Amino acid sequence: MSTRHQRSTQDLLATFGASPTSPPSSPQPQQRARQERRERLNQPRAPRCGRAERGAGWAPVEAPLAVYQASTADIGGLFPLLASEPMPAVGARMGYDPLSGGAFHFHPIELVLRNWCTNPNLIVFGEPGTGKSSTVAAFLLRMMVFGVRTLISGDVKGEYSPLVRALGYEPIELGRSRQTRINALDLGPLSSHWESWTVTRQREELDGLLGRWVTLLSALAEAQGHRCTVTDEAVLSQVLRQLVGATDGTTRLRPTTIVDVHAELADPAPTLVREMRFGSRGQFLDHFRSITDALGNLIVGPLAGLFDGPTTVAVDWNAPIQSMDLSRIRESRGDQAIAVALTCLGSWAAAATDLRPAGEIRIVVRDEVWRPLRLGPRAVAAIDAELRLSRAEQKIPILVAHKPSDFLASGAAGSQEVAITKDLLALCSTRVLLGQSTRIASELADELALTDAEEDVTLGWANERKGRALWKIENHRGIKVQTVLSPTERRVFDTNAQLRSGTPGRG
Ligand SMILES: Nc1ncnc2c1ncn2[C@@H]1O[C@H](COP(=O)(O)OP(=O)(O)OP(=O)(O)O)[C@@H](O)[C@H]1O
Ligand SMILES: [Mg+2]
Repeated sequence: MSTRHQRSTQDLLATFGASPTSPPSSPQPQQRARQERRERLNQPRAPRCGRAERGAGWAPVEAPLAVYQASTADIGGLFPLLASEPMPAVGARMGYDPLSGGAFHFHPIELVLRNWCTNPNLIVFGEPGTGKSSTVAAFLLRMMVFGVRTLISGDVKGEYSPLVRALGYEPIELGRSRQTRINALDLGPLSSHWESWTVTRQREELDGLLGRWVTLLSALAEAQGHRCTVTDEAVLSQVLRQLVGATDGTTRLRPTTIVDVHAELADPAPTLVREMRFGSRGQFLDHFRSITDALGNLIVGPLAGLFDGPTTVAVDWNAPIQSMDLSRIRESRGDQAIAVALTCLGSWAAAATDLRPAGEIRIVVRDEVWRPLRLGPRAVAAIDAELRLSRAEQKIPILVAHKPSDFLASGAAGSQEVAITKDLLALCSTRVLLGQSTRIASELADELALTDAEEDVTLGWANERKGRALWKIENHRGIKVQTVLSPTERRVFDTNAQLRSGTPGRG
């Protein structure tokens, strides 16, 4: 290779059969070296320090610039010092950047603090099976080293359960047996802190809790087609206040369930009818008929026994990872049960993260985000609020979706819901784009203002191997990253394992 570069034009012509034109004299060695240098094929076009004339030194580059087309392996040899945009080496070490060969680290909170981006929110897009969940699992596992806890806000396919179990914890699995039940109005971690708070703090926390419950009940009604009014919410708040004992001055909160709320709405106490300024009991019952029936559907029918009684599983709110596995209810009870479970879990997640110690960062993962987005405007608004408040609440929200149109399926075209849902994309500074098909890649490129080269990466390079993605952080140039899994991680995250073992003819 090195000798080829040193061959002179004469040598080359001789090699390919031409007779030498110069006389076969034998010049002095120094003279011959100078002559050979002069005749080299890859002559520099300018002297080493540029031409000795004004404006022609090192700095100016003659236009048009030379264009090289070669494989990345060859280009690497031609431009050995080419490096990608340096990312701070902090946080989870995800894999490597094939352009520079350097390790790729990611810590969204640190990136915000270093002015790389404005928010720690993350969105992951990719065709099914390209490695979205594995990339997310690798990230949250590696962030645990820094004391960052994770909540999987509804694991519809049970993809994170092997990871939770590998870490020595049990996911909350609904639907496995009829004994597993979650109280939609669970006091959560609040009950263990309650006694240690001052009266003022108790009053503040109670207001927050009731607000969350009212939102939850309204969202549950909404998921079944009833839109709550301000009056509905005021009455629900009053009913809940009475049920937990806040109106009769009890110092400890009384546990309550959806069954209690339903009973109160179906058979209201005369004081409630009077306090809420209804003309008669009949008027009250007529006004609340649809919301009462919506809550009733959680007590009888396919959802019976899931959310309508005291919680039967012990939830460790201090575990490094907490997940609610919904794969069983999807099989046995259908999509509506999933919708309700996701709504309940969203409320729980808010309670758990609100009460964490100051300074603690928590990752909240919403895999298959199209499901909560289809629950209605309240669910969309909850995700919107989470993304907007993430910096203040020290959360790292992660949304996982297949394609941008997942965000448009929440309502009629042009509706306010669709507008809010579309804005969710803009609220995520970091976009992780795994392999895509042609149509969706161009849809993504339009929505996220990708360059042609970046679009090509999602169409080509990212599709060639699992875990390859373009990491686009705000307006910085997209970084190609191959996420690397250790053999143990590969075994634990292997969502194809079931497929493999179930295929006839396999060993
Ligand atoms: N970086 C990686 N290296 C090696 N294997 C990987 C990598 N990422 C994912 N895989 C493997 O690819 C398969 C699919 O991955 P994963 O379940 O994460 O995809 P997904 O995009 O979440 O799919 P779905 O959309 O169906 O949920 C799994 O068997 C996983 O082990
Ligand atoms: Mg997945």
